[in-house]
Amino acid sequence: MPEVRDRVLAGQVTLAEAYHRAHESYLADRESIELVPEISGFSAGGMPNRVKCLHALAGHSLAAGPGVNPIGDAALERSTWSPTRCECSEPGAAKWSVLDLGCGTGLSGAAIAQYAKHLVGVDLSAKMLDKARERKLYHRLEQRDLLTMMQGEPESTFDLVFSADVFVYLGALDDLMREAYRVLRPGGHLAFSVESLDALAGGAAISSDSHDYRLNVTGRYAHSMAYLSRMAAHNGFEVREPLVCMQGSPLEITIPGLPVRQAHADDAERCNVLHFRVHGHTRQPEVADAIRQGLATVVERDGRITGYATLIGFPGHAVGETNGDLQALIGAAQIFIGPGFLVPTRNGDLFRWCLAHGLRVTQPLTLMSLGLYNEPNGVFLPSVLF
Ligand SMILES: C[S@@+](CC[C@H](N)C(=O)[O-])C[C@H]1O[C@@H](n2cnc3c(N)ncnc32)[C@H](O)[C@@H]1O
Repeated sequence: MPEVRDRVLAGQVTLAEAYHRAHESYLADRESIELVPEISGFSAGGMPNRVKCLHALAGHSLAAGPGVNPIGDAALERSTWSPTRCECSEPGAAKWSVLDLGCGTGLSGAAIAQYAKHLVGVDLSAKMLDKARERKLYHRLEQRDLLTMMQGEPESTFDLVFSADVFVYLGALDDLMREAYRVLRPGGHLAFSVESLDALAGGAAISSDSHDYRLNVTGRYAHSMAYLSRMAAHNGFEVREPLVCMQGSPLEITIPGLPVRQAHADDAERCNVLHFRVHGHTRQPEVADAIRQGLATVVERDGRITGYATLIGFPGHAVGETNGDLQALIGAAQIFIGPGFLVPTRNGDLFRWCLAHGLRVTQPLTLMSLGLYNEPNGVFLPSVLF
């Protein structure tokens, strides 16, 4: 990088100082993870007094964000590096192996099929399965009890196990969660719907042997959040984030200084970088799809993208540098698609702002994970598929 060499040779003090500060920041970050007395106060490769490998400085900039390491920042500006580089999939290409528990006629399967490279359905009812077969979406359909079916599957087979409006016919979920965990690959997802016992408390019940779940006069079970969290934790899943689904009339408001516009194809890279900063990975295919469909929006401040949404609603996700960015995106949405959009209730400021603007909670949800999970490093609205 000749311009950096020239600045160094010209004895630019500011660059040397900034580089020293970067080193201190690097050491502080490292020591916040673990203090190793043998290397306390210095870093491998001789930073800052000797030349350190450029890839290490670029890596430091990626980890710390722009404005910390001047030489790493300069290296990144000149490179064609992209967080999406190691993703081989075509934008929008189906890549998940999916198991649809209690697939019925395939109503929910039809919504998920676009993300599935391999879709398997299981249901007790032959007639339901005939209808599902007509959709020509499933690679395999099995007429069996869903628990028995999973017990016959090899472990680590699926990226997503989902079940829509089926657990309401089952009471105890322990065996089922254990099998779902076994057939999921590390990092896979279990997504399911239930009726909330907490929300229905006081309604008419047929039987209520415990506070965990109960059979209602509707013939459907309702499960308590405490039970679901306990079952999940017993069977390897971690409860990560309490969520609420919010719905209401479009707010039609703008936030001063935070203009929102439709996203264009050349915004995708910057959206991916922003998502990477918050979650440690990108959602490049979804971003590309949403931009192509004209659904994605961005907040642009001083030429920088500081927030984006694929859409504000159940299947969409959003990230921002600040809550103001998310508020601007929510305020500009013309509709909240599906049952609503998901707000992490740990983000109390945003949750209260939504309530103060007339939005209402339609249902509580819980984000759980298994395997590696990056604690988000910023504000976000998750999609129903996280
Ligand atoms: C309300 S339907 C939902 C169908 C589908 N998931 C959808 O979203 O359209 C419930 C389905 O669960 C199936 N089901 C209920 N208990 C089951 C079990 N133990 N094993 C397999 N399927 C089951 C029923 O046969 C029915 O097709």
